[in-house]
Amino acid sequence: MSVGLDIGSKTIKMVELSPDGKGMKLQAAGVLGYKGADIEKLEDEKDFVAVAEVVRKLHKEAKISSKEVVLSLPEHLVFTQTIKFPPLTDAEIASAVKWEAEQIIPIPVAEAIIQHQILERREKASPPVVIVLLVAAPRSLVEKYAKIVHLGRLTPVAVETDLVALVRALAPPDKTVLIVDFGAKSTDLAIAKNGLLSFSRSIPTAGEAFTRAVAQALDVEPAQAEEYKKTYGLSEEKLEGKVKSSLSSVFKVVTDEIKKAIHYYQTEEQGDAPKSLILSGGTSGMPDALSELTNLLEMEVEIGNPFKNITVDPGMEKSLAGYAPLYSVAVGLALRGK
Ligand SMILES: Nc1ncnc2c1ncn2[C@@H]1O[C@H](COP(=O)(O)OP(=O)(O)OP(=O)(O)O)[C@@H](O)[C@H]1O
Ligand SMILES: [Mg+2]
Repeated sequence: MSVGLDIGSKTIKMVELSPDGKGMKLQAAGVLGYKGADIEKLEDEKDFVAVAEVVRKLHKEAKISSKEVVLSLPEHLVFTQTIKFPPLTDAEIASAVKWEAEQIIPIPVAEAIIQHQILERREKASPPVVIVLLVAAPRSLVEKYAKIVHLGRLTPVAVETDLVALVRALAPPDKTVLIVDFGAKSTDLAIAKNGLLSFSRSIPTAGEAFTRAVAQALDVEPAQAEEYKKTYGLSEEKLEGKVKSSLSSVFKVVTDEIKKAIHYYQTEEQGDAPKSLILSGGTSGMPDALSELTNLLEMEVEIGNPFKNITVDPGMEKSLAGYAPLYSVAVGLALRGK
């Protein structure tokens, strides 16, 4: 059994998978909304306990059997970069990464947890290069997440970043695609090449900013604004187009940032332009978000289904309907354990 735990800023998701022949089978999945927290800012014991209580409740209600979980860190709090090396062996790269990390990560190496993954060996390029993904997270941040898991009476067995997990869950093995996690606090985007994370960026604008925009423009309470956002979203004709017009400017901020990121990837990193976009996260459910993204980015857009290659019992399939995009990160984390 392997369990993925995604502690988002607004919802917590948990997925349990078990081996099934050559593939994996969904055993259990659940999501709970909560008051929300900036885990990196938590200091008081009672605040850690409050989040841990939600984790524990979710573990129980979703009927997850294993207590060992793989968890993820929010993209905007970790440092991710691809680095090019000459054709070295895996062992040589492991030590070169340490040295390189000291030069490029914005926090002292002694206070960071650093991981790397070899993405590609371009042996035939001139000069030949090895492309390596470097991920560094502040140790104190990892400790805070681990503390919540322990207080929730679970055991953390591994830590990844949201986008590494997302790419594992959604990226096709043979193309370059853009994967966007449209959450509450942030919109994270990954460019995945042949199934591997090749570029990442976090934009600090997502669901909460949309709700705030509607609340301000229509002068309504946040709960009402949230309702309007979810019911009408970007559809033109509703409430005389007032909801759409309040959301549009925020939506444009996000799509402009996505365009910039693609441009940067193509020019600075000489990457191939992604041909299509796979969408995930709670905000992907916003009415007409899909068609609006298609128009603004001029790209084919689809809602990702993290359960595509996983066996799901028909009963569970029904209860998951419509919620699949919420589980992408948690599925990716659970797949790590396979
Ligand atoms: N049908 C819908 N239409 C529009 N927005 C929606 C809909 N359903 C959920 N949301 C929004 O999705 C957000 C929650 O999504 P998600 O669970 O992916 O966030 P999170 O993982 O907690 O956040 P983050 O990853 O940014 O920390 C909320 O802002 C919520 O308002
Ligand atoms: Mg999230």
